[in-house]
Amino acid sequence: MKFTVAIDGPAAAGKGTIARAVADHFGFAHLDTGLLYRATGRKVLAGMDPVEAAESLTPDDLRAPDLRSAEVAAAASRVAAIPELRAALVDFQRRFARREGGAVLDGRDTGTVICPEAEAKLYVTASDEVRARRRYDELRASGAETTLDEVLADLRARDARDAGRDVAPMRPAADALLLDTTDLSIDAAVAEAVAHITKRIGQGRD
Ligand code: DC
Repeated sequence: MKFTVAIDGPAAAGKGTIARAVADHFGFAHLDTGLLYRATGRKVLAGMDPVEAAESLTPDDLRAPDLRSAEVAAAASRVAAIPELRAALVDFQRRFARREGGAVLDGRDTGTVICPEAEAKLYVTASDEVRARRRYDELRASGAETTLDEVLADLRARDARDAGRDVAPMRPAADALLLDTTDLSIDAAVAEAVAHITKRIGQGRD
């Protein structure tokens, strides 16, 4: 059975949490596509050519301990605007999306560019302030020194770059369910996502 769930949206809106929960619920494989860009950005920060960095990614690169840092996030967003670099990462993501047994991908362009034929699509958002607070709490828990204002400014800069680039800009697919998690608990957001996907599974492939 092939069934793809594409979950897109801005940073810290909750799409990663929802994607993991949905993958667990349905027994689908999960790919956090942002990790591909973060791992590439990390190699570029270390001096590598951007396209070469993307072409030479290994599973170990995706397990690097510092991929969640603010510096790597900003580098990921910068390198993600390079068309040749995105092109180098497309095949892997498409194969993952159409694997047997079902797949959940989360990112910025999974429902628009990587897998426009995805059977279920969600676009997860939340207010800037709530997203900044969530990311701030995560960063502080991991020991990072930062302020809420700094995190909010970083998020806004990253969203503007991710939505404003020419190639595969962040935007909702026309057929995506919009899920605003500003006032939703994790459980409630996951329940909405699961209900939508269950409905799409019931409708079969059309
Ligand atoms: O989801 P994330 O915060 O880990 O993503 C980090 C950056 O990678 C994000 O700011 C833009 C880029 N990205 C992208 O361009 N396309 C994707 N499908 C996923 C991430």
